[in-house]
Amino acid sequence: MCGIVGAIAKRDIAEILLEGLKRLEYRGYDSAGLAIISPEGQLQRVRRVGKVKELQDAIDDNPLSGYTGIAHTRWATHGEPTELNAHPHVSDFIVVVHNGIIENFEPLREMLIAKGYQFRSETDTEVIAHLLHDTITKEQCSLFTAVQLVIRQLKGAYGTVVMDTRNPDVLVAARSGSPLVIGLGVGENFIASDQLALLPVTRRFIFLEEGDIAEVTRRNIKIVDKNYQLVEREQIESDIKYDAGDKAGFRHYMQKEIYEQPIAIKNTLENRIKHGLVDLSELGGQAENIFSKIEHIQIVACGTAYNAGFISRYWFESLAGIPCDVEIASEFRYRKRAKRKNSLFITLSQSGETADTLAALRLAKELGYLSTMAICNVATSTLVREADLVLLTKAGTEVGVASTKAFTTQLTVLMLLVAKLGRAHNMSEQTEKAITHALQALPNRIEQVLTFDSQIEKLAARFIDKQHALFLGRGDEYPIAMEAALKLKEISYIHAEAYAAGELKHGPLALIDKEMPVIVMAPTNDLQEKLKSNIEEVRARGGQLYIFAQEDSGFVSDDSMTIISLPHVEEITAAIYFTVPTQLLAYHVALIKGTDVDQPRNLAKSVTVE
Ligand code: M6R
Repeated sequence: MCGIVGAIAKRDIAEILLEGLKRLEYRGYDSAGLAIISPEGQLQRVRRVGKVKELQDAIDDNPLSGYTGIAHTRWATHGEPTELNAHPHVSDFIVVVHNGIIENFEPLREMLIAKGYQFRSETDTEVIAHLLHDTITKEQCSLFTAVQLVIRQLKGAYGTVVMDTRNPDVLVAARSGSPLVIGLGVGENFIASDQLALLPVTRRFIFLEEGDIAEVTRRNIKIVDKNYQLVEREQIESDIKYDAGDKAGFRHYMQKEIYEQPIAIKNTLENRIKHGLVDLSELGGQAENIFSKIEHIQIVACGTAYNAGFISRYWFESLAGIPCDVEIASEFRYRKRAKRKNSLFITLSQSGETADTLAALRLAKELGYLSTMAICNVATSTLVREADLVLLTKAGTEVGVASTKAFTTQLTVLMLLVAKLGRAHNMSEQTEKAITHALQALPNRIEQVLTFDSQIEKLAARFIDKQHALFLGRGDEYPIAMEAALKLKEISYIHAEAYAAGELKHGPLALIDKEMPVIVMAPTNDLQEKLKSNIEEVRARGGQLYIFAQEDSGFVSDDSMTIISLPHVEEITAAIYFTVPTQLLAYHVALIKGTDVDQPRNLAKSVTVE
């Protein structure tokens, strides 16, 4: 996690670094800092606890001048979010920003203390600063050489950018597990964790590869690969849009992103349905061959993306007839597993940089899955670059930490894939057409659900004093209940759990009393009668029920049940549709509770540490 920006130019760079940090806040926002070498060669460093805004205010009060500098927004791993632990870290003339984890920092720290180095922070990063200082002092070598020597001693997944105040003409960057990109200017160059940070200054980029170390001056870029051999990396002209710049009149990015779902789904479907049939020719000719061989699907992801995968398991098995397993990436990567024959390995990720998901993909490649696929929202991400097959969600930039439009577009892509793989097996054309029809109707259906916003806002007021909430669903609505619980807990800090409604009597029923809100996802389908029995179990014990159903459900509100009657939706896409009111509920509860909706405490948008 954490965001890094560096600049080497012939103009003042403080504003460039600050703007870059603001754009990287999705990677962490518990403290931020910046170091610039003044034109006289003095190090100027400012660090603040809290968001980049705090840093900006401090620099507005005491402006900095200088042409070479590095900056950082932090998500604490080692050491609390304090000013002392904030980056950049310094060892005499060496200045370091770092993202990721140095796993062997403890023995290195002890070794450096024995040599007389004094540690001022609790971070793992500070060992890099002292190791570089020690190496340069001993070897009398360049910063570039010193980084190559020091990197060999570090274990873990990280990205780092360093500078030497005695030589403001060079920045050195090293990538080992966390992405770094070099932005190319005219007579100036930049480095960042993500190209988004640099779009105000350039659209030409070099993406560093795993193990690369780069020496960046104003006019030159020199790169060695993981074997310390000089390499040339391709320059890429970016056409990415940074559409997160403003909230378009909405109060929060999360609210904007909930409202963008109809268009995001439309964009995700564009050119992928032709004459009522799914067209995924973008995958290339090899895909058809692979698809006909698939006997099993293994899905691996984290958080909301995992929930999306879990839902699709119901669809792959019921509609496409293909056995499917879904697992959390951090579990998958560390357990001994039995690989199924002819298994397609699918990773889902909004960012494409989630450390556990990436590690799982790499493991799947080693294990020799039939093929690997990434379903991802960021075309330039590591996941997309490393997977054999790629299907992009076209949600547009998602800024809110709570994932909303990324989730519903992941489900949209998964449903397209269900139809495609189903047809390569035994699915009828009629079922495929029912799927595409339901998908094409979905944006309008979601527009209709969004008109329930004020009704849901009123409902949210009833959650203000609650400490806990239970979400229930059956079938593919069970993972939707999981996603709804995740949304509520993540942004309102109310403890929320989800259960398959049939599980209630096996334990959770003990929690039910008049204080416990129970939110039920109850679309009109074959399972509704079963669900009604579960609802009665809650009612009989005095639980407060909030039921999201359809107009034709026959549910009637009374003292113990509040029914939110939603308009008709096609059964195939009901799970996607029923997600939206739960997003609105979480949003309004958080709003009433006054939490930081877009950047909830302790979290980050992109989880690049394991
Ligand atoms: O970028 P990814 O989709 O791989 O991220 C996975 C999770 O970190 C993410 O979905 C997280 O759970 C969200 N904050 C949930 O809203």
